[in-house]
Amino acid sequence: MRSVADQSVAELGGRLSVLARQKGDHVELDGLLQRLRASSHEEQLPVLLDLYRLVFPHAFAEETVLWPVMRRVLPDGEELTLQVEQEHQEVNELVTRLERLELGSPEREAALQRLDEVLREDVRDEEDELFPRLQERVPVSQLRLLGIAWEVVSRVAPTRAHPIVARRPPGNVIAALPLTILDRSRDRLDAIRLRGAGPAGGALHAVSAGLTRAAHAVEHLPAMRRGEDPSTRVDPKPGTPWGLLAAGALVAVAAPVVLARRRRS
Ligand SMILES: [Fe+2]
Ligand SMILES: [Fe+2]
Repeated sequence: MRSVADQSVAELGGRLSVLARQKGDHVELDGLLQRLRASSHEEQLPVLLDLYRLVFPHAFAEETVLWPVMRRVLPDGEELTLQVEQEHQEVNELVTRLERLELGSPEREAALQRLDEVLREDVRDEEDELFPRLQERVPVSQLRLLGIAWEVVSRVAPTRAHPIVARRPPGNVIAALPLTILDRSRDRLDAIRLRGAGPAGGALHAVSAGLTRAAHAVEHLPAMRRGEDPSTRVDPKPGTPWGLLAAGALVAVAAPVVLARRRRS
């Protein structure tokens, strides 16, 4: 078995193949991790935003499109995919922690260091083991079809950490639409704020924080955890008021839209 890292695009099945697309994203990830390491505390924020927008849709599409196929075609597919799902789960938990830690604190630096390690381990497991095994089992034509499906899903997938949502269908598929809307709205607001929004920065930060709370409320809904393996499960706190949280989520989603319309009229 040859690692995907040592194969040319033609050997991987051409540009459309899921293996070539994966390798391209992994190279981009390596560049972002290098930039992150070279950044000062303040400079880390826009780099992290780019990293989240690459990593989370990428992993979501793996979990919904690729790993179910690996489980079908490989006798040890269950074991192999569970290992990478556990790595993805750790990334989700680390990023959720990072967002609560103060810039420059030792705990944050340690979390960043671990994030770098887990992301690199995930890439090695996929390129050296999972993908060569997939390559042995499925024809190039199917690798191309998987590439198209993976690309389509990754373009509409959530872009932020959601540790409570299942790492497997059907929970993650049910969660995708509401979380994508919330995450991508938050991405836009945060990008404007980080470019320098002047006095509006505080308001943008407040709306972004509201969207984060709304996303956390949505991910706590029990349907979002369906299909989860116990080893990647994070149980929410008992006695969570689902109705109240869901209503809060709806208000948080609707508020920016209503405000934007009012401003236009
Ligand atoms: Fe990957
Ligand atoms: Fe991955």
